[in-house]
Amino acid sequence: MTRKTTDFPGANSEELLKRRIGAMFSFLASVYGPETLVLKAGKLGALKGMKSHDLLQQVVALQKVVYEDPTIGASLSIDEIPGILEDCQEEIADHIARHSIEQEIEDLVSRKMQEKHEEYLKDIKKEILLDNSSPETEQTQKKLKTLVKLEKRSLSRSALTILRPRSLKHIVGQDRAIDALLAKIASPYPQHVILYGPPGIGKTSAARLVLQESKKLPFSPFARKAPFIETDGSTLRWDPREITNPLLGSVHDPIYQGARRDFADGGVPEPKLGLVTAATGGVLFIDEIGEMDPLLQNKLLKVLEDKRVFFDSSYYDPDDPRVPEYVKRLFSQGAPADFVLVGATTRDPEEISPALRSRCAEVALSLLTAPFTIFTIWAGVSASKNTSAHLDRSAGLISSGSLVVAPTSTKSAGAPWLNSRFTYSGTRGSSGS
Ligand SMILES: Nc1ncnc2c1ncn2[C@@H]1O[C@H](COP(=O)(O)OP(=O)(O)OP(=O)(O)O)[C@@H](O)[C@H]1O
Ligand SMILES: [Mg+2]
Repeated sequence: MTRKTTDFPGANSEELLKRRIGAMFSFLASVYGPETLVLKAGKLGALKGMKSHDLLQQVVALQKVVYEDPTIGASLSIDEIPGILEDCQEEIADHIARHSIEQEIEDLVSRKMQEKHEEYLKDIKKEILLDNSSPETEQTQKKLKTLVKLEKRSLSRSALTILRPRSLKHIVGQDRAIDALLAKIASPYPQHVILYGPPGIGKTSAARLVLQESKKLPFSPFARKAPFIETDGSTLRWDPREITNPLLGSVHDPIYQGARRDFADGGVPEPKLGLVTAATGGVLFIDEIGEMDPLLQNKLLKVLEDKRVFFDSSYYDPDDPRVPEYVKRLFSQGAPADFVLVGATTRDPEEISPALRSRCAEVALSLLTAPFTIFTIWAGVSASKNTSAHLDRSAGLISSGSLVVAPTSTKSAGAPWLNSRFTYSGTRGSSGS
C-alpha cells in the first residue's frame, strides 16, 4: 500500500528524500556490487534516473531496480514518495533475507557435495587397493603351511586301497552282474543302469571298471578321456530356488553371496555348471540313488530326456551389454548333459521310483556269503606284476565290507599275491535284467 508524506512528519523535505534514495542506492551497490548495480540499472532502463537530480526520476529508477520491473512509470506525486521509499526498503529487506537463505542453502549443498565427493574418492581408492592387494594375510599363509604339512603325512596303504579291484577280473563273485553291466554299457548305444545290491559288494567298483573296459572297445561311444563322475544321492543338497544344486547346476544371482564380484557388480547372474555337465561324454554314477530327494530325481529325469540342462534367472537380461557371451549362451541354449547314468542302491527295486526304473536297465549284484573260497594263490604270479592285492603273509582271513577273503589252502597262505582266478559261492545268483 502506498503511504502519503503526511504519514511521515518532516519526511517530505525534498533534500531529505534525495538523501534517503542516495543511501538506498549505495546500499544496493554494496549488496550487488557497484558494477552489477549499474548493469542491472542499464537493463531495466533506470540508469538515467539513477544519475538524475530530479527526485521523481530517482524514485522511479529506484523502484525499477528494487522490483526489477522496467515498466514502472513516472506518474506519482511528491506526497507518495516517502511511502514508496518505505515499501522499497521493505522489498530490499525481503530480498536480502531471501538472498541470505539462498546463500545458506547453496553453502550447505556445496558442503554436502564436497563431502560426497571425498567419500566417493575414498571408495575408489579402497577399490583400487582391493584390486591390487594380495588376498593373503599372515593367518591365511599359516593355514596354507599347515595344509601342505598335512598333505605330506599319510599312513601306509590301507587294506582297502590294496584290495580295491584294478580290473574287472579282480571283482569277485559278480561275473553275471558284470556281464549284464557290460552288455548295457559297453555297447554302441549304452543304456542307463540301476545297480542293486547290499553295501560293500562292489557296485561302485564294477561301474567304474566297466566304463574303463568300454573305452577300450572300438565301437564304444566313450572317448579315452570319458569322465566317471561319482556322487552320493544321500548327501546331495539342493534348494528349490536353485541357489545351490551341485548335481544339475545353479544360477548365482548378483544379490546372493557367492556370486563373482565382477558379475555381482555388473548385476549379471552367474550360472554354475553341475555334475551332469561334468559327466558329459562319460558316466554319472550316483550312489544311493534311492535316497535322493524325489523332486531332484524328477529334475534329473528331465535332464536325461533333454540331454541338456537349462538355467533361468529373473536377473538375466539378454540385451544387457555387460553379459558375457558364455553366460548368454548358457541362458539361451542351456549346457550339455549327455551322459550314461549309473545309479546304485541298497534298496529293493520296489522302493525305487517307477519313473526312474522305466528309463534304466536294472542289474543286481550277488550277495556274497561265507563259507567263501575266494582266491587261489600261486607263487608263479610275480610281485612286480600284480600289486593290486597284497596280503599279509600271516593273514589267514581278511574282511572287506561284506566280502570275506580267505585262502583256499594252507599252501596258498604263504603266497603273498592274490591271483585273479576266484571261485565263489553267493546266495543271490541272479544278475542282469
Ligand atoms: N565283488 C568284489 N570283489 C572284490 N572286491 C570287492 C568286491 N566288493 C567289494 N570289494 C571291495 O570293497 C570295496 C568297496 O566296494 P564298493 O565301493 O565297490 O562297494 P559298493 O557296493 O559300491 O558299496 P556301497 O554300497 O557302500 O557304496 C572295494 O574297494 C573293494 O576293495
Ligand atoms: Mg559304492
